[in-house]
Amino acid sequence: MSIYILAIETSCDDTSAAVLKDRILLSNIIANQDIHSQYGGVVPELASRAHLQNIIPVIHAALKQAAVDKKQLSALAFTRGPGLLGSLLVGVSFAKAYAYALDIPLIEVDHLQGHILSHFIHKATPVPKFPFLCLCVSGGHTQIMKVNDYFEMEIIGNTMDDAAGEAFDKVAKILGFPYPGGPVVDNLAKAGNPDAFTFSEANIDRYDYSFSGLKTSFLYFLRDKLKENPAFIEENKNDLCASIQKSIIHSLTKKLIKAALDFKIKEIAIAGGVSANSGLQKELLSLACQYGWTIHIPSLPFSTDNAAMIGIAGYFKYIQNKFTDISSVPYTRQNL
Ligand code: KG4
Ligand code: ZN
Repeated sequence: MSIYILAIETSCDDTSAAVLKDRILLSNIIANQDIHSQYGGVVPELASRAHLQNIIPVIHAALKQAAVDKKQLSALAFTRGPGLLGSLLVGVSFAKAYAYALDIPLIEVDHLQGHILSHFIHKATPVPKFPFLCLCVSGGHTQIMKVNDYFEMEIIGNTMDDAAGEAFDKVAKILGFPYPGGPVVDNLAKAGNPDAFTFSEANIDRYDYSFSGLKTSFLYFLRDKLKENPAFIEENKNDLCASIQKSIIHSLTKKLIKAALDFKIKEIAIAGGVSANSGLQKELLSLACQYGWTIHIPSLPFSTDNAAMIGIAGYFKYIQNKFTDISSVPYTRQNL
């Protein structure tokens, strides 16, 4: 018999609901919250209020698009954390109430595990083989994970300060672009020269990352250039975006190559919002040829936050009988 999962994701500023029939995605509705762009970042209180407004219409839309009646649902999966407390509380509370009313089991999902397991949503291309390395790059995390099984993941590298997505967003803010800045930088970089400027990259041990120095080096570089020429940003925005993007990508891939060689793993995946970056994808495809990797890159709707990834993680928990109950409470920091 097929398993129907309704999944809810509200960890940050996107309200999303998805319906899966086993590993097949039937719908994945995402309501973005445009309100934050004018503030240069996510305002937690505004995010939770917007989730409250969006959650019921988003769930109705997901069920409707999937052509699934709520009475057909086998279980309800939700993001328990990490994320913003107020945002998570909306999804967690709604999930508990809805599952209780429908008398179906509840499944809690870790947001990061969801990003990684999005590679297992049914599609034409093969899924990653265990063990694989996953570079998880989002607005909140930058990690290299060794994924031994669906729910057996080891963090082997981590950022000491900013996440890669945060670095993109901060650089974009310095350049005067709206939030989220990652996609804006990516777009402008396409028409720029990545070797026009160089910025100092961190030299951290092992597989760890640091992006705060890069951001500071970018800030000081611009401050000096703007003193000489107030139109420097406008005249060089493509080259600036291409050059800073090259530095971020180089920092990311340097550690990934080291980890892949040390752990002798050639099955490589990428997950999280920054995995949508076209420059990073291009570089990974070229490294895959160079090092003989099988590379797994999520398609755009599954790279940034979405409930489909929570649904697929929920499916694997369902078949392993990993359920939770209404005592489940959100966590804001990583809990793997
Ligand atoms: O995974 P995600 O949607 O949310 C978190 O869990 O944080 O990631 C959001 C991050 C933001 O920092 C955003 O700027 C970045 O992903 N991002 C990108 C691109 N698309 C989204 N960064 C660089 N290039 C992109 N194309
Ligand atoms: Zn995310």
